[in-house]
Amino acid sequence: MDNNVRLVNFLNMPYDLRLESFKWRTSPHVDKYFQLHNLTLDGHRRWLATMIGAQPRTVAFFIMYGDRPVGATFFQKIDWGAGTADWGIYIHDTTMRGHGIGSRALAQSLQYAQDEMKLHRVFLEVLSTNSAARRVYENAGFQKIAQRPDGVLQYVFDIKGKEKCHL
Ligand SMILES: CC(C)(COP(=O)(O)OP(=O)(O)OC[C@H]1O[C@@H](n2cnc3c(N)ncnc32)[C@H](O)[C@@H]1OP(=O)(O)O)[C@@H](O)C(=O)NCCC(=O)NCCS
Repeated sequence: MDNNVRLVNFLNMPYDLRLESFKWRTSPHVDKYFQLHNLTLDGHRRWLATMIGAQPRTVAFFIMYGDRPVGATFFQKIDWGAGTADWGIYIHDTTMRGHGIGSRALAQSLQYAQDEMKLHRVFLEVLSTNSAARRVYENAGFQKIAQRPDGVLQYVFDIKGKEKCHL
């Protein structure tokens, strides 16, 4: 399974497929794991536009299993000066969950953050009830830094001084 997983930048795929990802993100079996709901197609178009430019606010990837896009992963709220970003992920194809693809996509994301984006810290938030996601993040070395009263956990991964991730 491992060697078949790769990340392809949204900008290197047709715009129609980037738009298609709106359906994936808003499907009930993905949406329920996120904090933002009732997303609109116009909002999705605006999100896609934040990927354009020299220092974009967002860098997103399709998670490819072979030639098939099975999910997406993204750096958002990128602060290029501070070297920080928020990170997120989903695998919309539920039959592809639980096979190591998310862990692999996270390892490749962190490698990209270090080598290409030169980030120092990556943040993420996750619902405390999302045991599988928490397991993936903690396995990768994310440290829990806070728990909000609404049950959202905040994690950080400190890239500075890390050894190269094992891909
Ligand atoms: C979270 C997600 C990206 C993980 O990807 P994945 O390919 O399913 O994850 P992996 O197969 O690499 O790893 C899953 C891990 O969770 C564990 N796991 C699965 N179900 C679990 C459960 N109910 N409780 C605890 N651990 C669980 C697995 O054993 C595995 O851990 P291990 O490698 O130590 O054995 C994917 O499940 C998904 O898209 N979920 C819905 C969207 C989502 O939650 N996005 C994140 C929002 S913060």
